[in-house]
Amino acid sequence: MDLPDKRFRTADGAAIAEAARVLRLGGLVAFPTETVYGIGADATNGDAVARLFATKQRPRFNPLIVHVRSLLEAEEFGQFPSLARDLAERYWPGPLTLVVPRLSSCPVSLLACAGLDTIALRSPSHAVARALLDTAKLPIAAPSANVSGRVTATRAEHVRSDFGESLDLVLDGGPAPLGLESTVVGFEAGRPVILRPGAIPHENIAVVTGALEGGPNGKLRSPGQLKNHYAPRARVQMNAIAVTPEQALLAFGSDVPVGARETLNLSRTGDLREAAANLFTMLRALDERGVVEIAVMPIPEMGLGEAINDRLRRATAPRGPLP
Ligand code: TXA
Ligand code: MG
Repeated sequence: MDLPDKRFRTADGAAIAEAARVLRLGGLVAFPTETVYGIGADATNGDAVARLFATKQRPRFNPLIVHVRSLLEAEEFGQFPSLARDLAERYWPGPLTLVVPRLSSCPVSLLACAGLDTIALRSPSHAVARALLDTAKLPIAAPSANVSGRVTATRAEHVRSDFGESLDLVLDGGPAPLGLESTVVGFEAGRPVILRPGAIPHENIAVVTGALEGGPNGKLRSPGQLKNHYAPRARVQMNAIAVTPEQALLAFGSDVPVGARETLNLSRTGDLREAAANLFTMLRALDERGVVEIAVMPIPEMGLGEAINDRLRRATAPRGPLP
C-alpha cells in the first residue's frame, strides 16, 4: 500500500488549519478557488513571494492577485475609486479582480505587485479559499497553479503533476467550479478597462460601469504596456563592476566595489530569492534619494536571476519624461 502523501490532503478543517500554519511560516499552499486552483503565499512576506515566482518558473515577474476576505480588508491595501467599490459590492465574493492604486501604507510586498503602483485584489467565493483566508488571517498572493506556459489547473491532481514536490501543501477541494480565471478590471484616468477577460463576461461588468474599454473588440493590455508600469526616475546601469561617487549602487554578493554615494545590497550571500524579495523595495529606496544613476552589479542569469535581469533591462530602456 502507498503511504499517504502528507503534502496532498483533502481540504477538511484540519488540513485547512495546517495550510494556514504553513502560510504563516512562509510556505506555499495550493488551494481551490471558484475559478481555478491557485498557489498561495503570504502576500506580505517578500521571501515567500520570491519562492512562489521561482516555483512558477516565470521568466519575469508578473504581478500577482492578492486574495482578501472582503472589500473592507481590500481597502486597507488599495485606493478604491467609486466604480471599483460598486463592482466589488456587486461581484464579491466572486471571480472579479480589481486593479487599483496601492496605498502607501500597503503591507503587501512590492514583489507581489511586480513593483507597480497598483495592486490586484480579489475576494474569492470558494468555501475552501474563504476558510483559508479566515484561518490564516493574511492576504494571500496567488497566481493560477500551472507552470508558466502550461494549461491552467482546475483539479488538485493537475497541481500535483505540475509541481510535484515543490509545494508544501496541496488542498484538494474537488474540481474548480468555473474552470476559467477571474475577469481583471483596472482603471485608467478613473475609467474602467478590462485587462483580462475571464469568468465574469464583459456585459456583466458594463451593467455596473456603463461602456468600458477592453471588451470583445477592444485591445487587451498586458501589465508591461500599462502606463503606470514602475520605472525609476534615475538611469539604471546594469552589470556594473565599478562605481563613481555620483552613482548609487545596488550590490549583489560579498565582493562589492567601494566609492558609491549610497549602497544597498540585494543579497550579501548571493541568494537570488533574497535578491528578488529586495529588488523593487531597494530600487525605490535609492530612487527616492534622488540619485541620477543607479549602478547594479551583475546578477547571474539563472533561476530568479532571469526575472530580475528582465526587470532591470526594462528599467534601463529609454523613456519619455515621467508624470
Ligand atoms: O481566477 C484567478 O484570477 C486565479 C485565481 C487563483 O484567483 N488567479 C490568476 O492569477 O489567474 P495569475 O497570476 O495567473 O493572473 C493574474 C493576472 C495577470 O494577467 C496579471 O498581469 C494581472 O492579473 N495583474 C495582476 N496585478 C496587476 C496589476 N497591478 N496591473 C495589471 N494587471 C495585473
Ligand atoms: Mg495564470
